[in-house]
Amino acid sequence: MRNFDYCNPTRIIFGKGETDRVGKECQKLGKKVLFIYGGGSIKQNGLYDRIMKHLQEEKLVVYELGGVKPNPRIDKVREGVAICKKEKIDLVLAVGGGSVLDTGKIVAAGAIYPGDPWDFFIDEHKIPGKIPLVTVLTLAATGSEMNHNAVITNEETLEKLGTHNPHLYPTLSILDPENTYTVPRDQTVNGIVDMMAHVFEQYFHPFPETPLQDRWAEGLMKTIIEYTPRVLQNPTDYDGRAVIMWCGTMALNHLLEEAGGGGEWTCHPIEHVLSAVYDIPHGAGLAIIFPQWMKYVLDVIPHKFTQFAERVWEIPRANKSDQELGLAGIERTREWFREIGAPTTLREAGIGEEKLTEMARMAVKSGNLGVTKVLDEKDVEEILRMSL
Ligand code: NZQ
Ligand code: ZN
Repeated sequence: MRNFDYCNPTRIIFGKGETDRVGKECQKLGKKVLFIYGGGSIKQNGLYDRIMKHLQEEKLVVYELGGVKPNPRIDKVREGVAICKKEKIDLVLAVGGGSVLDTGKIVAAGAIYPGDPWDFFIDEHKIPGKIPLVTVLTLAATGSEMNHNAVITNEETLEKLGTHNPHLYPTLSILDPENTYTVPRDQTVNGIVDMMAHVFEQYFHPFPETPLQDRWAEGLMKTIIEYTPRVLQNPTDYDGRAVIMWCGTMALNHLLEEAGGGGEWTCHPIEHVLSAVYDIPHGAGLAIIFPQWMKYVLDVIPHKFTQFAERVWEIPRANKSDQELGLAGIERTREWFREIGAPTTLREAGIGEEKLTEMARMAVKSGNLGVTKVLDEKDVEEILRMSL
């Protein structure tokens, strides 16, 4: 097992009704709040009014930045940073899914940075710190609520880039599963694919002797598979939503990867190019690409794929070769994506072969991808072609 130095400073308040603590918790961190949210779901489901009431009860001065879009844009971040600087905002409150939380992270860091916040995506070391950031999560998916990543799109350059820095951990995240009751079925599925993909990225790596990390990952995958039907059948199943929410957080708070495990992170950068060029949901892109990447690297770490097939999907070895058993696990994964309603080919998402070469080039712009099998432009193009 590899050496590690792991610290996750985000405080988590989890559970039914805990949203009502937002006012008092924000009040401990400052007086002037920038309240960031998305395209309107929190106004429709009453969360906006509920949060506003608590902020006003604590006599906080509230500024607003609404209208954050999925695949959030740098222009919206710049707008938020300008408000923070002009009004001398003390803290950011981000209420929404990963797009809103990521916007909140970069606004909170940009508030104390003299330059343009896009710089953070070119060089993560430029992130100087941040003003306090409180999040209220409304969609189980990205893990942004307890990690140090943010992903933002620059429409001018057609880039969707991620950055990471320990300063980006939220100060506090409130995870109230009831806030996810109104997530529509397709977004629930996108979120579930995303959290599963996060586990894959940290499970299929070549590092030896990670038995505990592997079993953490397998526990997460089996739990996600077990609880997905519950939230799809009954969106207001409290325990279903609670379990899925906590799985999403644990899938990408980097415990799996940074505490002695490993990380691959190939399908994510490839998917980010798809979302940047075609503006498709992140989870949908991952469901299409991941099984093809798995096939592409199967022969490099066959033992990992046989372990996955046997432990996660409970496929008996019988007389199968490693290759056959590994492939059976991959096929089962693809079938499961299909069963829950995720697309599994680019064509299903309305994407043809026109831009595959260009997208492959964009995906490796900052260097080749991956650890298990290092992917260059040609490899990425091949995986994209296999995904058609
Ligand atoms: O904008 P509103 O009106 O709020 O609607 C949103 C949006 O349309 C809706 N929604 C969210 N909560 C809802 C709800 N609708 C009804 N009821 C609720 N309670 O869902 C839609 C999608 O929201 P979004 O925030 O875009 O989804 P998600 O959480 O999946 O975030 C995706 C973004 O995060 C990035 C992705 O690339 C993508 O840009 N990622 C961030 C990561 C991170 N920070 O660690 C890692 C991920 O791998 C990912 O790359
Ligand atoms: Zn993801």
